[in-house]
Amino acid sequence: MVEMVNEAKDVNSDQQAIAAVEHHHGQMLTRLNHLTRALVDAVESGKKSAEHDAHELLVEWCENDLIPHALAEESALYERARSRPEANLLVEGMLAEHRVITDTLEELRGAQGIRAAALATAIERLFAQHLDKENKLLLPFFVSQPDLSLVEAVEGLHEIVGEAHPHGGEHLHTTTETRLA
Ligand SMILES: [Fe+2]
Ligand SMILES: [Fe+2]
Repeated sequence: MVEMVNEAKDVNSDQQAIAAVEHHHGQMLTRLNHLTRALVDAVESGKKSAEHDAHELLVEWCENDLIPHALAEESALYERARSRPEANLLVEGMLAEHRVITDTLEELRGAQGIRAAALATAIERLFAQHLDKENKLLLPFFVSQPDLSLVEAVEGLHEIVGEAHPHGGEHLHTTTETRLA
C-alpha cells in the first residue's frame, strides 16, 4: 500500500483538544456527583417532594447532557477509532459501557426511594470509570495516530468539549440521529 498522504498533523492542537475534552468530562462528573448526592440525601431524609425534585433534575441532566455527549462521541470519536484494528476492541468495550449507562438510566426513570438512590450511584460510578478510560486510553490513541486528528474530530461539538472550546468559532450543530441501543 502506498501511503503518500501524511499531512503532519498538529500535535499541539490535539493536546489542546485532549485538555478541552478532559475539562468537559471533569465538569460533567462534578455536576453528576452533585445531582446524585442531592438524590441520595433526599432519599435518606425521607422527604418525598425533595426526592421527586432531585430525581427529576438528575434524569433531566442525563437526558440533556450525558446522552447527547455519548451520542456525539460515538459518531465523532468512536467511529473513527474503531476502524483501526488496535483500537477496535477498546471501542467495542466503550460502546458496551454507553449501553449499560443508558439502560441504568432507563431503570432510574421509573425507580423510587432506595432503589433510585442505588441506580443513581451506579450511573455515577459507571460514568466516572468510563470517562477515565476515555481520557487515558481513547484520547491518547487519537493523538498517537499521525493521520487521526482529535481537534478535527471534536471541532464545534459542544457536547464533547463544552461551551468554551479553544477555537470558539463555528458552531457546527450535530444531528444526533444516531441511536445508542
Ligand atoms: Fe463515552
Ligand atoms: Fe466522554
